[in-house]
Amino acid sequence: MRVSLTVNGAPRVADVWGGDSLLTMLRDTLELPGSKNACEQGECGSCSVLLDGQLVCACLVLAAQADGHEVVTVEGLANGNELHPVQATFVEAGAVQCGFCTPGLVVAVADLLERVPDPSEDEVREALSGNLCRCTGYVKIFDAVRLAQERR
Ligand code: FES
Ligand code: FES
Repeated sequence: MRVSLTVNGAPRVADVWGGDSLLTMLRDTLELPGSKNACEQGECGSCSVLLDGQLVCACLVLAAQADGHEVVTVEGLANGNELHPVQATFVEAGAVQCGFCTPGLVVAVADLLERVPDPSEDEVREALSGNLCRCTGYVKIFDAVRLAQERR
């Protein structure tokens, strides 16, 4: 089937199988590998993207459900060669180890700070509770969020 949607501000068309997830379409058909596939069952948040401005796990959305809608992936956050502020603070704070969780976390943090410019620590923890990181112990990740928050 054919899916027409907007991805990172550009119109895109993809031929997909009816059972393909949005994540599969983004990575394999539209060649946007930023969103990661770590569990494919909505548990880890590594595939987080914005669908019509709502944070979703792309592995839990059918590609067909994105037809006519707007998707923003981690690739769409940077402004040309300029990193998104949250990407920059993740680098600065050393919040990246293997990097598998990072794209999903960056999208989730960017979404949080857009909705809640000055979140409490509890709000940050709640907002990121669906994003699992096996490497960092989260300390540097929360440092990166705080830094991004301070710079807004
Ligand atoms: S790959 Fe989608 S939540 Fe883990
Ligand atoms: S940096 Fe490896 S899973 Fe988070």
